[in-house]
Amino acid sequence: MSKVFRFGISLPKALIDKFDEFIRGKNYTNRSKAFGDLIRQELVKKEWLEGKEIAGAVTLIYDHHKRELLNKITDIQHDFQKVIISTQHIHLDHDNCLEIVAIKGNPKEAQKLADTLKSTKGVKHATLSMSSTGKAID
Ligand code: NI
Repeated sequence: MSKVFRFGISLPKALIDKFDEFIRGKNYTNRSKAFGDLIRQELVKKEWLEGKEIAGAVTLIYDHHKRELLNKITDIQHDFQKVIISTQHIHLDHDNCLEIVAIKGNPKEAQKLADTLKSTKGVKHATLSMSSTGKAID
């Protein structure tokens, strides 16, 4: 954690009012944390765009009864083992599985993995959570 530095920002009153209303809705109790998170959000976006080492997760919802789909998902994960650091499988109910694939590495590979899983026939829903290793956003 780097040293905290205090500085002033001048913005139109209407914009600050909208910002305060926005952060209240997001449960922030102070502007500093909210500003910091907005900055970090942009820095994380930049990490993904510039091909820096990233971290995140792909979540999948799929039908447990489709055995060939299960094999396909496993095959894809073996093809992308360079960016996959862990996989958690949760049996949601009698029919549905939730799989959380934790990723770390090259963002292009991570995006390709997410796209490949998402476009696999039988996958009901998939999301890519684009996050950071945390190193560059202190
Ligand atoms: Ni399951």
